[in-house]
Amino acid sequence: MTKRVFSGVQPTGNIHIGNYLGALQQFTRLQDENECVYCIVDLHAITLPKDPKELKENILDVAALYMAVGIDPARSVVFVQSDVPGHAELAWALMCYAYTGELSRMTQFKDKSRGNESAPMGLFAYPILMAADILLYDSDIVPVGNDQKQHIELTRDIAIRVNNKYGDDTFVIPEGRFLKEGARVMALDDPTAKMSKSAENPLSRISLLDDDATIRKAIMRSVTDSDGEIRFDPEGKPGISNLLTIYSAFSGLSQAEAEARYKGQGYGAFKKELAEVVTDALTPIRRAYTEIRRSEALLRVLKDGAERANAVAERTMRRVKERIGLGT
Ligand code: AMP
Ligand code: TRP
Repeated sequence: MTKRVFSGVQPTGNIHIGNYLGALQQFTRLQDENECVYCIVDLHAITLPKDPKELKENILDVAALYMAVGIDPARSVVFVQSDVPGHAELAWALMCYAYTGELSRMTQFKDKSRGNESAPMGLFAYPILMAADILLYDSDIVPVGNDQKQHIELTRDIAIRVNNKYGDDTFVIPEGRFLKEGARVMALDDPTAKMSKSAENPLSRISLLDDDATIRKAIMRSVTDSDGEIRFDPEGKPGISNLLTIYSAFSGLSQAEAEARYKGQGYGAFKKELAEVVTDALTPIRRAYTEIRRSEALLRVLKDGAERANAVAERTMRRVKERIGLGT
């Protein structure tokens, strides 16, 4: 039986190679054997302040990037979260079955709110909206980076809780599909921190749309160590290990093969070749992006995607409302 895959990315700028290797690349691979639904989660984006004009642009940027990396709208549903009312509607219902205690244990909430009394309620409810996204489509598989593990666990807990109350066929219990250990991409200027969209230093990341010179500069300046040996050892040599991970992901060589290839060579030579491998891989993505982003077909894809998504969402909402006893 074909499985339903669901995932989402927030419409913010600076989508980087961590997002690509952790999430987007999995999205495209899963299309071959599954029915995939990929969302641009704009309702999640407003949990932190956003400029309206920028948000609108970023939504289209991510949509174009989805397609530039190989998501095929003929096979997969690509749509914007707020175009389908069921997300917010189901999130409300799920809020009534989620516990404030479990939500206050979410590390993402703790990191972003830092105990601040004026942290928005939406930031607290963020994981419930994410659970609604997933459960609305009877999703079996959710490809995400490791940092989303806790949210997926919460989604499962809430779904199981509702099923225990209203019947086992209310929700499909989803499973996360996480990265292999080595594929967590770290910041280039501090290999002990995750590569992130929001870090202040632009050279801490490689954004998918960076030009070749910027990519080269970020890699050449990346923080390593002083012992001079190219060896995979995430504990002792986090910088070089991160570069080896990136090299292996983009070159198709295994980590061991990459290590063997550069044994005895200097960091400079390795970094130079790494920059070449990365720019070679990103150039076609950037070209496709530029074309798709200015094409009129983009809005049509999103409109069609929203219609297809909505058809599934409405069916689920009818079922959920019936079970809970809501409506006329
Ligand atoms: P976000 O940047 O939070 O919108 O994340 C979009 C997707 O990329 C999620 O599935 C994340 O788990 C994944 N992701 C974000 N940062 C990284 C990273 N440094 N390495 C690997 N995956 C990541
Ligand atoms: N919270 C996810 C992130 O920050 C984005 C997201 C929202 C998501 N809804 C989702 C991911 C549903 C997978 C499934 O990366």
